[in-house]
Amino acid sequence: MKISFEKKPGHKPDAYVVFVAEGGKLTAPAQSLDKKTHGAIKRVFHAADFEAKKGKLLAISGPAGISASHIIVVGLGKLVELKVRDFEKIGSSLTSELNKHRVVSAQVIFGDELKHVPEETAASHLAEGLLLNSYRFDKYLTKEPKEKKPTLKSVEIVVSAAAEARKDFDTKRKVADAVFLARDLVSEVPNVLYPESYAEIIKRELSPLGIEVKILGRKEMQKLGMGALISVGIGSAREEKLVTMQYRGGKKNQKNVAFVGKGVTFDTGGISLKPGPGMEDMKWDMAGSAAVVGLMKALASRGAKVNAVGVVALAENMPSGTASRPGDIVTTMSGQTVEILNTDAEGRLILCDALWYCQEEFKPSQIVDLATLTGAVIIALGHEYGAVFSNDDKLPQHLISAGKEVGEELWHMPLNDAWDKAIDSPAADIKNISGGRDAGSAIGAHFLKRFIQKGVAWAHLDIAGVAWVNKERTSVPKGAAGFGVRLLDRYVAEYCE
Ligand code: BES
Ligand code: MN
Ligand code: ZN
Repeated sequence: MKISFEKKPGHKPDAYVVFVAEGGKLTAPAQSLDKKTHGAIKRVFHAADFEAKKGKLLAISGPAGISASHIIVVGLGKLVELKVRDFEKIGSSLTSELNKHRVVSAQVIFGDELKHVPEETAASHLAEGLLLNSYRFDKYLTKEPKEKKPTLKSVEIVVSAAAEARKDFDTKRKVADAVFLARDLVSEVPNVLYPESYAEIIKRELSPLGIEVKILGRKEMQKLGMGALISVGIGSAREEKLVTMQYRGGKKNQKNVAFVGKGVTFDTGGISLKPGPGMEDMKWDMAGSAAVVGLMKALASRGAKVNAVGVVALAENMPSGTASRPGDIVTTMSGQTVEILNTDAEGRLILCDALWYCQEEFKPSQIVDLATLTGAVIIALGHEYGAVFSNDDKLPQHLISAGKEVGEELWHMPLNDAWDKAIDSPAADIKNISGGRDAGSAIGAHFLKRFIQKGVAWAHLDIAGVAWVNKERTSVPKGAAGFGVRLLDRYVAEYCE
C-alpha cells in the first residue's frame, strides 16, 4: 500500500477521513468538509449513535457537493485522554472500513487541534496501523472474485509536520516489512516450507542486508553432538537444519544479544501422534523462529546499533520407521542426556541444542527464546498474552514494557524448584515431560533453563496462544500475527542500543 505524508492535500481521493472530538467538536478540516457537503457530517453526527467516542468510525456514503464517494468521520473522544497507540488502532480499523466501502484512494486530514499527542507521531502511528492491517496471504487463491479482494491502494495523510511524520514512518515501514516476512513464513504451507527450503529463504532474505547467515545440516550437527535436535528430525524425509544469523551493527567489543527460535515446520507429535482434528494448525509451529528471522531483518534494515545474533532450529516432527520412540535417551550438545518420554514435547528438544550452540558460539550476554512450546500456555493466558519466564529480574520487565507499547503483551510467569525437580529422570539426566498435567508451560521453561549457562540472562517466551489470530486484532488481520518482531525490535531499540 502506498502511504504518503503531505502538508497540503494533493489530488482528489475516493474518501476523506476527518476527525471529531467528544461533544461533536469538528476539527477545522472536518468543518470545511461539512460546509462543502451542506452539513452532511453534522447531520449524521446527530442521527447516528456515534457521539465521537474514541476510535469509533462513522461512514457517510455519497455525500452531496463533493466528488468523493465517502467521508469517514473518526471519533477521538476526549482530546486530553488520547494516547499514541490510539492512532495505531484508528489506522488499523480504517483499513477495514475503507476496504468495506470499496475505497481505492483515501485522504486523512489532520487538524491542528490535536495538541496532546505530537502531530507527526499521531500521523506515523496511524499509518503504521493502516499498513500492518493491510497484510494478506492470498498466494494460493487463484479464483478469488474481484469483489472479495481489498480495494485500498493509497492513503495520503495531510499533516503540517509532514516531513517529520515521513521520517518517523520510514522506520516503521521497515519494521512492518519485517513483520510481513514473519507472517509470510508462518502462513506458508508445510509442503512448501520445510527445514531446507526455510533455511534457503532465510539466506536469500537476510544476506543482502549484510547479515551473515550460516546453515548447519545433520552431518555438522552430529559432529557437534546435537543428539536432541537431530532426534526430532530423524523421522522425517526432510533433514533438520540449524540456521545462525549474525548482525553486527554495534561496537566491535560490544557483546551479542541473542534470539533463539523454535522452527518446527510441522508438528504431528511424532510417534506420540497428535489427534487429527486441528492438526493443520501445527504448520505454524515455527512461529518462534519466524519472529527471530523477522527481527533480524528489522534490525538490519533500520540499521540498529547493536550486535545481535539469531539462531533458529528447524525440523519436521514426523512418525515413521526411523522416528524417535518414547523411551529413547539422547545426548545433547551440552553433554546432558535426555529421556524422551513424549515425542510431542519436541520444541524443547530442538531448542536445548540451539540454546547451547548459541552460547558456545556467540557468548551472548543475554538470550531471548521464542517458541510455540505448549498448549498449556493457552489454557493459562488465552490469546491475550504471551508468557515470559526468566532467570533474570530486569529482562522480563523490559520485555513486558516493550510489548505494551506495540500491543504485543506478555505476562510474567513463575519458575519454581519443585517444577525443576519434576523433570529429573531415573534413567537419564533429564526427561522431556514431567508426566503430570501441572504447570505445563513452566515445565517446558525449566527444561530449557537447564541449558542456560552461568551468568547469561535468559527469557523464554511461550507464544503458542498469540502466534495465530482467529479474531482480528489491532494491526493484526486473521492468521499469522508475526508476534515478537515488533516487541523485540522495540526492546532492542530501548534497552540494547
Ligand atoms: N507445538 C506444540 C504446542 C502447541 C499446541 C502450539 C497448540 C500451538 C498450539 C508442542 O510441541 C506440543 O505438542 N506440546 C505438548 C507438550 C506436552 C507433550 C508436554 C502439549 O502442549 O500438549
Ligand atoms: Mn509437539
Ligand atoms: Zn511443537
